[in-house]
Amino acid sequence: MPNINEFQDTIHKIKDEALQEIERVDQSEGLEQIRIKYLGRKGIITSLLKNLKDFPEENRPTLGQLSNQLKKQVEEILLQRSQEIKERELILKKGKPSLDYTLPGRRGWEGRLHPITRTNERIIQILYGMGFEVAKGPDIETDYYNFSSLNFPPDHPARDMQDTFYIKDDLLLRTHTSPVQMRVFEKRKPPVRIIAPGRCYRNEAINARSYCTFHQVEGFYVDTDVTFADLKGILTAFIWEMFGKETRLRFRASFFPFTEPSAEVDISCFLCGGKGCSLCKHAGWLEILGAGMIDPEVFKAAGYDEEKYTGYAFGMGVERIAMLKYGINDIRLFYENDLRFLRQF
Ligand code: DAH
Repeated sequence: MPNINEFQDTIHKIKDEALQEIERVDQSEGLEQIRIKYLGRKGIITSLLKNLKDFPEENRPTLGQLSNQLKKQVEEILLQRSQEIKERELILKKGKPSLDYTLPGRRGWEGRLHPITRTNERIIQILYGMGFEVAKGPDIETDYYNFSSLNFPPDHPARDMQDTFYIKDDLLLRTHTSPVQMRVFEKRKPPVRIIAPGRCYRNEAINARSYCTFHQVEGFYVDTDVTFADLKGILTAFIWEMFGKETRLRFRASFFPFTEPSAEVDISCFLCGGKGCSLCKHAGWLEILGAGMIDPEVFKAAGYDEEKYTGYAFGMGVERIAMLKYGINDIRLFYENDLRFLRQF
């Protein structure tokens, strides 16, 4: 026979324990676990009520009352604590920065291509489309590839045309992309139809028009029966693609050691159409590239039969073309990496 006093003690003990546990909990989930522990189907208080039947009938109303009181108290405290916890969780949430979906979006920084890269890629794209393969050569060259093999004799004044950065007596930073001609000729037999884009270096005074480094795209085609007319045709097609079909070309006689005859090619100013403006310095023409028929001396150095083969070559400055196309008046801007400049492209 269970003892009534013991039963009452048990009720007090359960109540104290439940209160302490509830007090300690600070998250909604924990509270639910306590509810199950005490008030669930197999919970401590539920079992207590079920066990009432073991007591003598006359005691059951009192004990039942006590048990129900306990149940009600625990339920109330659980509810109270649950509200406290919910309130606290809400305050915590509100403390976090909230999102205002009506605000206009902020634009992310997007990367973009450097104007030189863009111009370079455009030049390559056009010429590649005309059947030129892309070849590359080293930035550090020997005197042989940069000069001698291209028919610059030692101590010839032509070398003065290009102020050179020497690394050692025989090693230098290439002053143009023409040495790629010889590097290709050594490896391949005609027909060769190649473009060679790349960086060049010259020990020049730095100003708005010249810089110590710049880019060129070299082009050349060697085969039997290549003529100056082919050169004119390919350059005209290229210039029309690059600057528009209304552009006119002018070939001026010039001199390069590795071409004979040599020409400098001007295009009619695309800004004023040739009438004369500040871009073309009122000449109506813009100098755009050097070109010519490859000198037989170059074929000799290459081991090509100079009786059998002819070829043309041309070389253009990428910075020069980019400056014309984008209306940039100072070459140094390309190398200063000022984002205010670069973001415009
Ligand atoms: N290499 C010359 C320079 O840097 C440009 C050039 C002129 C290249 C005539 C050529 C050419 O292929 O035929 O000034």
